[in-house]
Amino acid sequence: MRILLTGSNGQLGTDFRRAAGAGHEIVAHDLDLDITDRAAVASRVAEVEPDVVVNAAAFTNVDGAEADELAAYRVNALGPQNLALACQAEDIPLLHVSTDFVFSGDATEPYTEFDRPDPRGVYGKSKYAGEQYVSGLLDCFYICRTSWLYGVGGGNFVKTMLKAGRERDEVRVVDDQEGSPTYSLDLARKILEIIETGSFGVYNLSNQGSITWNRFTKDIFEIAGIETPVLPISTAELARPAPRPRYSTMRGLALEIAGIEPMRGYREALEDFILRDLPEHEQSGGKPG
Ligand SMILES: NC(=O)c1ccc[n+]([C@@H]2O[C@H](COP(=O)([O-])OP(=O)(O)OC[C@H]3O[C@@H](n4cnc5c(N)ncnc54)[C@H](OP(=O)(O)O)[C@@H]3O)[C@@H](O)[C@H]2O)c1
Repeated sequence: MRILLTGSNGQLGTDFRRAAGAGHEIVAHDLDLDITDRAAVASRVAEVEPDVVVNAAAFTNVDGAEADELAAYRVNALGPQNLALACQAEDIPLLHVSTDFVFSGDATEPYTEFDRPDPRGVYGKSKYAGEQYVSGLLDCFYICRTSWLYGVGGGNFVKTMLKAGRERDEVRVVDDQEGSPTYSLDLARKILEIIETGSFGVYNLSNQGSITWNRFTKDIFEIAGIETPVLPISTAELARPAPRPRYSTMRGLALEIAGIEPMRGYREALEDFILRDLPEHEQSGGKPG
């Protein structure tokens, strides 16, 4: 397949290029194709004539979105709208990546694709607006929601904790938010599988398992052989600008319906990330060389 990929230097974009390998022709763009520029997006999609467009570009700074609402909506809502319009004009499907933050976090059991979104902060609201543009403009779309993403190609919670665990005497991590950590390489592989099926619709795509950030940190340390104590702290004590979903675990019901294999468990994926894929200097929290 010829795939036009946006956000190609991000965590998911990096792993998407890696997962696609030689089996697909990836036309990769990051900030060189600003998805908020409608004319540029339209002409690039028409020029490349891809089989599918994959949008991994986003404004992902959750707290930053509260401070710069316009920027968040431009990238997360207007961007997918521009891509959807371009795909509509060329009759091409769009795969758009979204987030567990579209849900309120008030649930007590995993969200399915058929539960009603009710985002709370600017980031979640802007991402949900993007979803609505995509599903409203196109018949042939995939919206893939994921959660707690980490990968080799960017800063993320796992890397931060590996560094903190090596440098500090103890770390304090919230233990009242629950969700599913997801390796961006696993997500990229699942996206590639889904776009081959033509089974359009909304998908929840997270590694399986539901844990708190605190438990996640203990897993990270256990795998990396770090003995630094992980103490609990509450979300209220942390006092971040953006609200966080208390419970954002998602069930991949759409995968089950389409007869597609579920994502694997988070722990196995985390082991592969830390022990197999992360460069040595990041694994140990030290400096390169
Ligand atoms: N990270 C998570 O924990 C998480 C959780 C759930 C869902 N998601 C979703 O998963 C997807 C991938 O996330 P990620 O973690 O891979 O994000 P990421 O690492 O922040 O990558 C996003 C990429 O898009 C680029 N970008 C920003 N604005 C752009 C624009 N106007 N035009 C073109 N490119 C632009 C970014 O460049 P700059 O870095 O230079 O801005 C970056 O390279 C996103 O849709 C995100 O909402 C992420």
